[in-house]
Amino acid sequence: MGETAWKWHVGKASYTPDQKAQIKALEADLEAHMAQAKPRRYAHSLSVSRTAEQMALAYGVDPFLARVAGILHDWDKVLSNDQQVAHAVELRVDLGVPAQLVQPLLHGITAARTLPEVYPSLPPSVWQAIERHTIGAIDMSDLDMVLFVADGVEPLRRDVPAIRRTREMIEAHEPLSEVYWSSFFQGVAYVIDTERYLYPGTLDIYNGLVLARAARNE
Ligand SMILES: [Fe+2]
Repeated sequence: MGETAWKWHVGKASYTPDQKAQIKALEADLEAHMAQAKPRRYAHSLSVSRTAEQMALAYGVDPFLARVAGILHDWDKVLSNDQQVAHAVELRVDLGVPAQLVQPLLHGITAARTLPEVYPSLPPSVWQAIERHTIGAIDMSDLDMVLFVADGVEPLRRDVPAIRRTREMIEAHEPLSEVYWSSFFQGVAYVIDTERYLYPGTLDIYNGLVLARAARNE
C-alpha cells in the first residue's frame, strides 16, 4: 500500500439483479465477519475478488463465480494460527503430515468444507477453487487458477519482482496455465528461499505441472 498500486482493468462485468444482490450480501457478510477482526485481510479479500473478476473477464471464466470465490476465500483467516490448526483437526482435514506443519495451507480447505452449508446456492466449483487456493493442484480448472493467481497479484500485494512478473504476464494475456505456473513456482521458491517447511504434496504438484507443461510444449 502507499506505493503505486497495480492498475489493470479489463471492463465491467454485467451481472443479473440477483447476482448483484448476492455479491452485496456476501460482501456485507464478509464485512461483519472480518472488517473489525482483520481489517487488512478484509481489504485483501475484496481486492482479490475484484482482481479475480477482472481475470475471469480476460480469460473467459464466469466473473460472478470468480468474484464470490474471492470474497470468501480467506474466510477462516479470522482464526488465529492455532485455531486454524484446531479447526482443521476437528474437521479431520488430513494432508498426511501433522496439521501444524502445514498451518498456512489449512484455511482454504476448512472454509471449503464449512461454507457450502452457509451458502448452499453457490456451486461446487466455487468451493473447489477456495479449497485449492493455498495448495494448488495439477488439474486446476480455469476458475481455480483465476483465484489462485488473483490471491497472489491483487494490487495490495507489494510490488516485488516475482509478483510483477506474474502481473506482466496477465497484462500480456499469456495463457492462464502459464500465469498459474509462474504464480505457483514462485510460491514454492519463496518457501525454499525463506527456509520454511515444504509440504510434500506441493512437490508432487510441482513435478506434475513440470511434466504437464513439457507435454504441452512438445
Ligand atoms: Fe488470500
